[in-house]
Amino acid sequence: MTASPTAERPSLRSQRLNQVTHAPHSKLDALVKAHAPFETQANFARFVVAQYLFQSELVALYNDAELIKIIPDLADRCRADAAKLDLADLDTEVPAPVAGAVNNPTQAEALGWLFVSEGSKLGAAFLIKRAVGLGLSETFGARHLGEPAGGRADGWKRFTRTLDGLEFSAEEEAAAEKAAVDAFVRFTVLLEQAYASAPELA
Ligand code: HEM
Repeated sequence: MTASPTAERPSLRSQRLNQVTHAPHSKLDALVKAHAPFETQANFARFVVAQYLFQSELVALYNDAELIKIIPDLADRCRADAAKLDLADLDTEVPAPVAGAVNNPTQAEALGWLFVSEGSKLGAAFLIKRAVGLGLSETFGARHLGEPAGGRADGWKRFTRTLDGLEFSAEEEAAAEKAAVDAFVRFTVLLEQAYASAPELA
């Protein structure tokens, strides 16, 4: 995540996606931190609300039969259930859906969204260490940040290798990149919504 805005276009699709999402990622990282999610369990619970909302909007993509032909373990990668269990651990209600979820994306768009969701498991390695300080773990309250079966690095490498090997038209390429940026915009909306809907934290 160190590409500069003037860098040349990398040859691998995953690296190009990294490049176009570098600025949105930095902004989101700062926004997450601004909400001090690791200060109290109540603050962290709002972060989990955002994660749950984001993951639940992607359930149809993770379970898409055509995408599973490309990424056989895709359904197992979904973290909506883990985030829902975290909400229960944190005595937090399952939030109502928020209007504006991704709807019926093309395959290239879906892969852009999934790139962001899967990539977020890398940052989760840092986040779970902080969650431990709140008495949480990958079996209680911070399940959705846990290490995926087979390991984070391996899961990410397999995902990007597959993504990088797909034939895309120029239009699909652009659509995937736009979708990845849209995914960051969407997470930002959900994060703001999650904290705004917690009056006790206002
Ligand atoms: C919804 C999407 C995402 C969210 C909410 C998110 C959030 C975060 C946060 C808050 C950190 C800071 C952790 C810390 O310093 O304690 C972080 C770090 C990181 N994230 Fe993300 N992230 C997302 C997507 C991605 C994607 C798509 C990738 C890779 C393609 C990625 C790769 C990383 C990496 C490698 C780090 C470690 C530090 C760094 O190199 O910046 N994240 N993420």
